[in-house]
Amino acid sequence: MRIGMVGTGYVGLVSGTCFAEFGHTVICVDKDESKIKRLKNGEVPIFEPGLEGLLKRQIEGGRIEFTSNIAEAVKGCDAVFIAVGTPSRKYSRDADLSYVYGAAREIAQNMEGYTVVVNKSTVPVGTGSEVERIIREENPEAQFDVASNPEFLREGAAIDDFMRPDRVVVGTSSDKAREIMREVYRPLYLNETPILFTKRETAEVIKYAANAFLATKISFINEIADLCEQVGADVQHVAKGIGLDGRVGAKFLHAGPGYGGSCFPKDTLALTRAGQKYNAPQRIVETVVSVNEDRKARMADKIIEFAGGDIRGKKIGVLGVAFKPNTDDMRDAPSLTIIPTLQQAGASIAAYDPEAMGEAGSLLDDVIWCKDPYEVAKDADILTIITEWNEFRALDLSRLSKSMKGNLLVDLRNIYSIQEMQGKGFDYVSVGRARVLPDRTN
Ligand code: UDX
Repeated sequence: MRIGMVGTGYVGLVSGTCFAEFGHTVICVDKDESKIKRLKNGEVPIFEPGLEGLLKRQIEGGRIEFTSNIAEAVKGCDAVFIAVGTPSRKYSRDADLSYVYGAAREIAQNMEGYTVVVNKSTVPVGTGSEVERIIREENPEAQFDVASNPEFLREGAAIDDFMRPDRVVVGTSSDKAREIMREVYRPLYLNETPILFTKRETAEVIKYAANAFLATKISFINEIADLCEQVGADVQHVAKGIGLDGRVGAKFLHAGPGYGGSCFPKDTLALTRAGQKYNAPQRIVETVVSVNEDRKARMADKIIEFAGGDIRGKKIGVLGVAFKPNTDDMRDAPSLTIIPTLQQAGASIAAYDPEAMGEAGSLLDDVIWCKDPYEVAKDADILTIITEWNEFRALDLSRLSKSMKGNLLVDLRNIYSIQEMQGKGFDYVSVGRARVLPDRTN
């Protein structure tokens, strides 16, 4: 198969590289010429474990090419994927589809022979029909079908998610398009990955419903965590206790500072918009959105409260600023609310993140960026863990506590167990679990 990939952002680059690994010939196109130049040399502009090595192998094997000329990428392809951004509009916060429609127009102008145009960008229901209309308007002779093929990749685990997905969803009513899509995903088909063929509108709803459901699980367990704190229960045991019920499932029940990232905040909001537009209110998801917004600010309040209510002049050390580990992505990261709120309350901030400090530098003012967790802890009154990077899971606690001025450790990701924090000299506060007071003999 010859596959065109329009857009070399996160989704386009991962998908293109993995399709090449499947053995297809892939041509990726992007308007950003400097990015194309870097990609041609095998340089990956994002942090995604395993991607650079995999991409280099595809380039060496001649299975992937990069161009800024869309005609080159589209001509003669069996399938052309649209994987461009759909950012939230600044004021309305609706998804901005101008890149998707622009890509559709350019594909239409350059198509040759029958082509399946596949939408991989996350788009509101009905976008596939609009893409079809645009292509027909732009090129009335074109032979094509438009399919929807949503992605479910997690940042930091995207290669594995692509190669071993729980399922693949393809929305199209055309037999011809279905056959081509079956061929595109043939290696997975052979591995017995469930491939769900459905209507285009259904595929579009599946994407939003999947993300909104997962976000609902997170907000649900976060509110249960608040209750646990008040009644002396342990949210991790609650999560286990309900997660062992196969109908509930154990995943996505980690209480924390609220979800962030490029998908959940944007997609939950887009689903509520769709509900309003089509007079089918999505009240559960509307609540999830507001619970999550409140949560980030509440986490800053929690730190202030356990610090005694006044943090003026205090130094707070922050471990982790990315929205989750194994990524440098700062989009909608809880740290972007928590850190400025602490600063407004009069604290100074020192922080460390293994990958996201470059990104975070331009988004957070007046933060002292450190080279490791121990530098962050030096003379700090309070230490807080906002992102659960593996390297924070086995810190030398006695070294940390000795270099701190105070002893309050607020772990917003529950990465330490209550037992191991006993007698370590910290006033240890986590989410939905008991507080551990410092051992007075220490
Ligand atoms: C998500 C979806 O998982 C993926 O299928 C979709 O295509 C894109 O959005 P991603 O944003 O990369 O992927 O990250 P994910 O691992 O799902 O985490 C999202 C957010 O939820 C993070 O902020 C994370 O910290 C938070 N989270 C996740 C929790 O707070 N608790 C959990 O139990 C799980």
